[in-house]
Amino acid sequence: MSFSIVVGSQWGDEGKGRVVDLLAEKADIVARYYGGDNAGHTVTVGERTFKLHLIPSGVIQPHTTSLLGNGMVINPSVLREEMGALKDAGVDVSPDRVKISFAAHLITPGHRALDKAREKARGDEKIGTTQRGIGPAYTTKVIRSGLRMEGMLSPPDFRVSVEKHIKAINIQLRDLYDMEPLNASRIADQYKAYAEELSPYVADVGSICDQALQAGKHLLAEGAQGTLLDLDHGTYPFVTSSTPTAPGALVGLGIGLGSVDKVIGVAKAFQTRVGEGPFPTEVFEDIAQRLRGTGEHFWDEFGTTTGRPRRVGWLDSVLLRYASRINGLSELVLTKLDILSGLDSLRICSAYKKDGEMVRELPFGPGDLSPYEPDYVDLPGWEEDIMGVRAWKNLPEQAKDYVAKVEELSGLPVRLISVGPERDQIIRR
Ligand code: GDP
Ligand code: IMO
Ligand code: MG
Repeated sequence: MSFSIVVGSQWGDEGKGRVVDLLAEKADIVARYYGGDNAGHTVTVGERTFKLHLIPSGVIQPHTTSLLGNGMVINPSVLREEMGALKDAGVDVSPDRVKISFAAHLITPGHRALDKAREKARGDEKIGTTQRGIGPAYTTKVIRSGLRMEGMLSPPDFRVSVEKHIKAINIQLRDLYDMEPLNASRIADQYKAYAEELSPYVADVGSICDQALQAGKHLLAEGAQGTLLDLDHGTYPFVTSSTPTAPGALVGLGIGLGSVDKVIGVAKAFQTRVGEGPFPTEVFEDIAQRLRGTGEHFWDEFGTTTGRPRRVGWLDSVLLRYASRINGLSELVLTKLDILSGLDSLRICSAYKKDGEMVRELPFGPGDLSPYEPDYVDLPGWEEDIMGVRAWKNLPEQAKDYVAKVEELSGLPVRLISVGPERDQIIRR
């Protein structure tokens, strides 16, 4: 029996998809546990690059089963599109190998419209959401009026529920946001058709996980978003509306306590963020453009889901230690080390300063980071392109020193180092 959780240790886009694809080599089941199509996970295998929003990144490894957990919010239209693209690429997405929890909630055009309307109404205080309807879908779940996957098992009744749901959202759109109502009847017809198509995928994911673990199989949970976007433990209110941290894997899949073997944190060798919110080590101008890239490569720092340029900055070990504590990390995977090649000198934030005093840990979590100023350690950079390096001993000394400093400051071993987006661009230690 083995159960590992892969979790983003920053603000998302750490390279979780790329890491999960690699680790899925040894997994029987790969399962997404929270979030929806706000996630964009990139997997590159040879010439082919997949951008996954809902289906776990393990799906590219043909021997695995893919699960979508009860913690997720699923837009059936996005799911169908994603399944279609995978099918076209020769990936099997039949109900034999892709299963969706009966208790996962659905995203509708109503949720998307509310997400847009609420962001607009917030004005300068907007969160910078992906506008995929994530917050509103979790809101309807929490107020107990959501639509669940299990509803799809009876398409005619489901049609009635969807129509009712859209009509209720129309009242909010009209009265609170002065917006045009949505066509409830048309959306209900569309969702009935989705139900007919997707009902074979509805399954009891918790029970499948339990049986697999009892049979000694290897289960890999794939986090979306990142620790600092967690609703409770992130940079609130600039967070997502779910629990991307590792404990969320248990609740979001329906697995009991006591089964977790390893919690693998994925960290980028620097730091990025999309959307609004605090970012103490953010950099601007030339160095920002250097870390972000210009958009010439698909791995440059532009959102997988929204195409927005990502904000960039130096690695922040105060936040990394916090991520280690909140998730109970066992080890780190460091990604995009190759991007630091060619920079004269590199920085890592080792502590914060407040009123002249050093602060190594956050007293009240990362909600308000505005009083802190980062304190940096400076390290020499390296010239060499390292995308072709496959062995630790062949890395430039300065790159090894950088990784060693990350280990020292985070208190975690770095087991894998990613030096490019492709499956084999990895250094194992
Ligand atoms: P995720 O949301 O955590 O799965 O990450 P994304 O896929 O949104 O963003 C990570 C981006 O970096 C993708 O374009 C990946 O292909 C790319 N990537 C991942 N690891 C590496 C790496 O080590 N080097 C480079 N150059 N790109 C990488
Ligand atoms: P992956 O899985 C990066 C961010 C949004 C916004 C905030 C709230 O690819 O790492 P939401 O639409 O969830 O209500 O937006 O969270 N966000 C992400 N940023 N990567 C993601 O996913 C994200 N999912 C949400 O940019 O700041
Ligand atoms: Mg992403």
